[in-house]
Amino acid sequence: MSAVLARNSSEEPSSYMEAIWLDIGPVDQLPALGARTLPVQGGEEIAIFRTANDAVFALRDACPHEGGPLSQGIVFGESVACPLHNWCIDLKSGTASAPDEGSVERFAVAVVDGVVELG
Ligand code: FES
Repeated sequence: MSAVLARNSSEEPSSYMEAIWLDIGPVDQLPALGARTLPVQGGEEIAIFRTANDAVFALRDACPHEGGPLSQGIVFGESVACPLHNWCIDLKSGTASAPDEGSVERFAVAVVDGVVELG
């Protein structure tokens, strides 16, 4: 795993926008319509999801209902169904579909030249 430092092109040092992007490997290593988890020291794992269209999303691997492992859910469209009680979570926003309520933390993720980077 390597880190990439990204900054905007502003001349003003005070306006630097620093972000650390972690290279977490080739997108092909993510199962289509599935997920892999990324361990977080001292915290809950992050689930990296891949849709049928190769879109990639990152959410905390804990359902907003009772903390079920979203990484073990079923990915459909741009949502995941939690394996415990079938709540549907929008992968873009991390929000549960109505009538359920709640949301899970999401993370910036990008695919650059076939490599998944987590921001
Ligand atoms: S823990 Fe996910 S639906 Fe209940």
